[in-house]
This record gives sequence, structure tokens and C-alpha cells, in this order.
Amino acid sequence: MKVNKAVFPVAGLGTRFLPATKAQPKEMLPVVDKPLIQYAVEEAYSAGIRQMIFVNGRNKRAIPDHFDTAYELEHELEVAGKQDLLDLVHSIKPDDMECIYIRQSRALGLGHAVLCAQSVIVNEPFAVLLADDLMVGQPSIMKQMVEQFEEWQASILAVQEVPAEHTRRYGIVAGTAINDRIMDLTHIVEKPAPEVAPSRLGVAGRYILTPGVFKEITNLPRGVGGEIQLTDGIASLMRREKVFAYRYEGQRYDCGSKEGFLQANVELALAHPELGPGFRSYLKTLAL
Ligand code: G1P
Repeated sequence: MKVNKAVFPVAGLGTRFLPATKAQPKEMLPVVDKPLIQYAVEEAYSAGIRQMIFVNGRNKRAIPDHFDTAYELEHELEVAGKQDLLDLVHSIKPDDMECIYIRQSRALGLGHAVLCAQSVIVNEPFAVLLADDLMVGQPSIMKQMVEQFEEWQASILAVQEVPAEHTRRYGIVAGTAINDRIMDLTHIVEKPAPEVAPSRLGVAGRYILTPGVFKEITNLPRGVGGEIQLTDGIASLMRREKVFAYRYEGQRYDCGSKEGFLQANVELALAHPELGPGFRSYLKTLAL
């Protein structure tokens, strides 16, 4: 079975970034020159995924607009002969990529957002990408995960080691190591206190899930924070199917936090082919 669909839950209110997110979705915040959602979509595309399903809410029109044709802008660029900018604008949505929008009318949690995509996904394995986790890797983290999926044909969660004092920010997993990177999971808990966390392996915002998860989410009671948690759906799925954790190779920037967002901007600016050298010299002049 091949992974061809990705779900992007983008209905959150982004309160941690107010006032920047008062009138625009947090997924449209740019890191250097690209909005967070575009990094996530490009990551999915690089993994061979062609159907992008956005589960959005109110005040999120900027996201469909970003992946739509911009007639006036494209016309102006054409008239001005700015072909490279025109190519850049066209590259946001390659012709073989399809965008599907679903409205999550109530913010009931990540599990509920994923469930909203059920009628489009029906009975295939699918990816979930949380755009505020900006993931940088070569090959991309989702490509690494799709490769693992092809081998194991079961749900796979991207994980990384997190400091003990941060377990309350993540889904935390435990299980039996199969090799250096893959673990056969027996436990997953949403945002446990460090004293009760089953390990220090935290789930990053990348998942490949089998469609069996929908039935599990449907039957869930509200979890941590009164929300329908994806983690709880995965915990139920684990009783029926194998679920693996995959220690990805690469870097995660937690762009849901201001610190992570700033770090991503600094590091990606330093790595930027045009901006990098000048930005590095500028940072040196700050003599911190
Ligand atoms: C969500 C998930 C959590 C996961 C995290 C990764 O939490 O519920 O299990 O570890 O994303 O970023 P959120 O950050 O939305 O609170």
C-alpha cells in the first residue's frame, strides 16, 4: 500500500503567537521567505504524496489562497517580464498536486481534526503533518517515514529524545527496539508529567497512520485538555495493530513556540544560499 494522501490540521487558533495571528493563521508565519505550511506541503510532496488535505477553520482563507492561482499577481509579473518570480509563484502548487479543504467547524482537538478527513481518505494509509513542527532533513523526514512504511506496512510515528522536563509538551512513547531507529510500540501517553512518562521519546508532528485509526478516534472520550487526542486514538489502535516509532534523521524546530520559531529563522537564514553569507557576517557584528 502506498501513501498518497497527507492531512494538515490547520484549524488551531495560534494563541501563542498573538498578536501576529489575530487575522492570519499561524501556519502562514514565514520562516525566512516561506510560510510554515509550505515547508510541510513540500516535505509531503518530496515523499511522493500528491493529495494534500487541509483541515482548516475560521480565519484561514490565506492558506487556500496561498495554494491557489493568483491571477493579478501572475499577470503583473508576466507583463514585467519577471520570469523567475513567476516560476517561483507557480512552483507553490505543482500541476500534479491536488489540494482538498475540509472545514473543522469546532476546535475539538487533533484527533477530531484527523477524523474530519475520514471521508476523503476512506481506506488508505495516510500521513499527518503538523506544520508548526518545521522538519529539516536529507532526505526529508516524511520521505524517510514513507520508506519505513513501505518496509513495515504499519503505522509509524516520528520520535526524538526530549529533555525530562519537556515530557508535558509531547505524546511520549515506549516499546521494544527493533533496530537503532525503529521501535515496536507498547505505550503512548499524551503530555505526561516527567515522573509518570514511560520514556523520554517524544512524538514530533509527523505520522503515517493506517485507516483503522478512524474507528478508534470515533470511540474516544475527551482526553488531556478536554480534547479528542490523536495520541489516545493511536493508543487504542495499538491494541489491534502494530504501531512503530521511528527516530528520524534530521532537525526539528518547534515553531509553535517563539524560541523555536526564532531559531528556525536564524538557522535557515544562515543556510540560505543567497542570504546566508551576508547574514552570518551581520550576526558576527552583534558580538553577543
Ligand atoms: C501535538 C500532539 C503531541 C505531539 C506534538 C508534536 O501536540 O498532541 O502528541 O507530541 O503535537 O509537536 P501540540 O503541540 O499540538 O500540543
